[in-house]
Amino acid sequence: MDKLVIEGGAALRGQIPISGSKNAALPILLASILVDGQVRLSNVPDLKDIATTLNLLALLGCQAEYTGGEVALHACDLKPEAPYDLVRTMRASVLCLGPLLARLGQARVALPGGCAIGARPVDMHLKGLAQMGAVFELESGDIIGNCDRLHGAHIQLDFPTVGGTEHLIMAATLAEGVTVLENAAREPEIQDLANFLNACGARISGHGTSVVRIEGVESLQGASYRVMPDRIEAGTYLVAAAITKGDLELVDCPVGALDAVIFKLTEMGMHIEGDQTSLRAYVDGPLHGVDVSTRPYPGFPTDMQAQIMALMSCSPGAGVITEGIFENRFMHVQELCRLGAHITLSGQSAMVRGVDTLKGATVMASDLRASACLVLAGLAAEGRTDVRRIYHLDRGYEHLEVKLGRVGAKIRREKE
Ligand code: UD1
Repeated sequence: MDKLVIEGGAALRGQIPISGSKNAALPILLASILVDGQVRLSNVPDLKDIATTLNLLALLGCQAEYTGGEVALHACDLKPEAPYDLVRTMRASVLCLGPLLARLGQARVALPGGCAIGARPVDMHLKGLAQMGAVFELESGDIIGNCDRLHGAHIQLDFPTVGGTEHLIMAATLAEGVTVLENAAREPEIQDLANFLNACGARISGHGTSVVRIEGVESLQGASYRVMPDRIEAGTYLVAAAITKGDLELVDCPVGALDAVIFKLTEMGMHIEGDQTSLRAYVDGPLHGVDVSTRPYPGFPTDMQAQIMALMSCSPGAGVITEGIFENRFMHVQELCRLGAHITLSGQSAMVRGVDTLKGATVMASDLRASACLVLAGLAAEGRTDVRRIYHLDRGYEHLEVKLGRVGAKIRREKE
């Protein structure tokens, strides 16, 4: 297993190119199951989760080829079974269920695993698909679904679930009649998925709002599509500039999707300026603690909660961070405390009192964004920090240590 070794204290300066979005690419890859023809995707990041998805697609009978950020896909010989060994490592793989039902009328998909950040059921996905005519049973941990052609439905989500919204949009594209999703999630990655499906001939409108309308079509055709840049990767590097008191320029950056993060970092005292596709972020004075609550988009993203906590833990003043999406997403707190942070937990809130300096130590990554938080804290800490169990990082950050090294971080990968 690999670990990252960081010598903290270097201010980061220079340019970082932002990679394609993992959370947009995953549903778009799985949506290709719906398409009758060749799909060509560009700006697909080179990540473990992408490799896992391509393996899954191959097992499902899709021809899939990845070269230098481009994927060519053709769902020409579909099979209905997604085995546990692949699905357990990545929760998003459950999104193949709806497309398989829409194309084949049957599917067998293992119940998913993924990051250990809460119970994360898929009940809303299944309830919505059932309203569209699918029938489910559970056998040996697998969801078995059957249907005739799916039909349009009026679906009210109990919570604006990101994966659930994506899943139901996908299934509805080939259903008979119109589907209306109310209380839908509005994340930019959902808009990217809908734009991709529309490029293939789907009729989706209202994506990016909380009411999405999908008029089913008989079939979808191949298309070429560029995946949006990754707003969480970009947000993580904004925090890297802040925590090292550096000066970074982010290029090919999804600026419009970062409003909530930019707003909070600016409130802390950071300077952020730019245009539609690039941002310059720098610090020229002390930052200070603020209160942050994670919320569905356009609120502050839960996927940036751990990173802003790292920043607040070494910024003067205090602030309360409240996690409003997942019930178990504070596992980075005890590791930050090993670096000298002063954080007290109470239910879904964390009181962070900024300390003057964090001190290097060996810490253990528990999930993807927690790993990023520990790397950020290590960049600011005095002395050496070893971040162990970084396989989570390889699931979600393309060439993290290379990108950070190029702007001056003292960071290297070592075998444990
Ligand atoms: C997606 C993102 C993840 C991000 C999250 C919230 C991908 C691949 N992952 O995850 O990085 O942290 O959105 O922005 O895009 N829930 C249910 N029942 C359901 C579905 C969800 O109770 O059927 C609950 C979950 O347990 C969780 C909350 O709803 O507490 C939000 O989950 P959801 O929005 O579905 O997140 P994901 O799609 O899993």
